[in-house]
Amino acid sequence: MITLTICNHKGGTGKTTTVMNLAAAFGMTGRDVLVVDLDPQAFLTRMMGETEAAAKLSSLVLFEEDIESEKVPITPLRTFDLVPSSAALSSAIRRLTKPTDVLWLREFVDCMDKHYDLIIFDIAAAVTVFSLNALVASNFVVIPVLPEYQPVLGGEQTYQTAQVVRKRLNPDLATPKFLLTMVDGRKRNHLGYRKYLRERYGERVMRTVIRTCTALSLTRQNGQTVFESDPQARGSIDYASAADELGQLFDPIDGGDLGPESKEEIKAHSSGEQFSFL
Ligand SMILES: Nc1ncnc2c1ncn2[C@@H]1O[C@H](COP(=O)(O)OP(=O)(O)O)[C@@H](O)[C@H]1O
Ligand SMILES: [Mg+2]
Repeated sequence: MITLTICNHKGGTGKTTTVMNLAAAFGMTGRDVLVVDLDPQAFLTRMMGETEAAAKLSSLVLFEEDIESEKVPITPLRTFDLVPSSAALSSAIRRLTKPTDVLWLREFVDCMDKHYDLIIFDIAAAVTVFSLNALVASNFVVIPVLPEYQPVLGGEQTYQTAQVVRKRLNPDLATPKFLLTMVDGRKRNHLGYRKYLRERYGERVMRTVIRTCTALSLTRQNGQTVFESDPQARGSIDYASAADELGQLFDPIDGGDLGPESKEEIKAHSSGEQFSFL
């Protein structure tokens, strides 16, 4: 089984949109996919047409002792399954403060191993016990980046966090991949930041680019992904190619693959001073 976290410390960079549409693309091509909504604001849950769940029927259950696959609150959707989120996740942050509290999702992933091919975690923008849990339980991480100043900065900080997690807590985590989102070819600053990321991170930037697409920006609460609402849209084409590109990375799975990057650069990124809680 493959586990994937989609994260960027900056909000509004297309994380939830990416989770939904990648999950659908993988689901439609025959993988059994489970999406875990770990954002207390539960946007993904709502966009999939579900109401925010009660605490006991939400992803908060995954942070309880002795989790078993039968106890996981799963909502089957058309192309993938969902563990919905609840606002109760916000208040739970206050009790999840022990160093071992970053290991809950690893246990959950172990107990789901036989049931799914792919688990995708959607998380909120901040670094919290939930985002750390997701990174600790993942083999892969994709950082959606809108090619503008704040999202690029947030994306680079997220890259550092992922590298610190790999170094200290999860050696199975592959080097993060940046996915450019909401790209507008007419904007000069977009071209500039794309070039910057490619020059600095090389292969760690996905070849696929998600272009701006009205069909993706329409807020739906009817559970439709872009593949159902507008299969001809750029969003459908782009997310299908993103899934293809990631699929090549997943098979054969090799979580330890660092890619052609400089080890020195990772060291520079992984000093970790600002993440003293790790
Ligand atoms: N490629 C895109 N083109 C146009 N709008 C997009 C695109 N991707 C996402 N959006 C819109 O941008 C906003 C933020 O996206 P979202 O996926 O919720 O980001 P995040 O989860 O990172 O906060 C949403 O309104 C979403 O519909
Ligand atoms: Mg989101």
